Amino acid sequence: MKKLGMIYEGKAKKVFKTDDENLFIVDYKDDATAFNGLKKGQISGKGAVNNVMANIIFQMLEKKGIPTHFVEQLSERETLVTAVKILPLEVIIRNVTAGSFSKRYGVEEGRVLARPILEFSYKNDELGDPLINDDHILALELATEEELEEVKRYSYIINDNLKEFFLEIGLKLVDFKVEFGKQMDGKIILADEISPDTCRLWDAVTNEKMDKDRFRRDLGNVEETYQEVLSRVQKKG
Ligand code: TMP
Repeated sequence: MKKLGMIYEGKAKKVFKTDDENLFIVDYKDDATAFNGLKKGQISGKGAVNNVMANIIFQMLEKKGIPTHFVEQLSERETLVTAVKILPLEVIIRNVTAGSFSKRYGVEEGRVLARPILEFSYKNDELGDPLINDDHILALELATEEELEEVKRYSYIINDNLKEFFLEIGLKLVDFKVEFGKQMDGKIILADEISPDTCRLWDAVTNEKMDKDRFRRDLGNVEETYQEVLSRVQKKG
């Protein structure tokens, strides 16, 4: 597989074309940002942790019936994936209150929600990824009704499986963000990544934060925490 020109550089990953139009290569970076890029830094080893962890989780989800972009890990930081067009939606599922939800609705962090909440943001850095709802998505034609229903159905299934997976390695899944892409034939599949950058994970015993909040909030032990999460995931995966 030949790695050709870069087609996209995001805050945490680069995406390259290959000599097969149906395949891309993603290359994970150590760069870390928060607050829509206002806070910038590096988390040494993060690219490798997120690549390996996302690949283990995507393979687990495939077995549970969720189609994903994962094809094959190529190196510590690089993975061959199905070429998709990313839907301009960030899907966030919350099981426990935290982060922007706590701020927006004035609810203390750590309250177990009576049922999971699914939120959408419009993926647009210039606008700061504003919250949107189903009507916005359909009226602005960001996705069709069928695509939207599929995205929601997959997201709840992903939540159920991730909650169980993480609990078995002593981590509470507080909330997470996923992104979906459209294959050339129109099929919707899970894309992007699932990692400590995109999930809030609290130690099931101590409630210690085991995710990117350590970087966002300057809590220290950032690199060590990413390594610890990966080593638990690898033991299970
Ligand atoms: P929030 O509480 O800041 O809205 O974040 C909710 C979840 O989404 C949390 O697990 C972190 C993840 N997230 C991303 O993956 N990317 C983002 O740009 C943001 C804002 C949050």
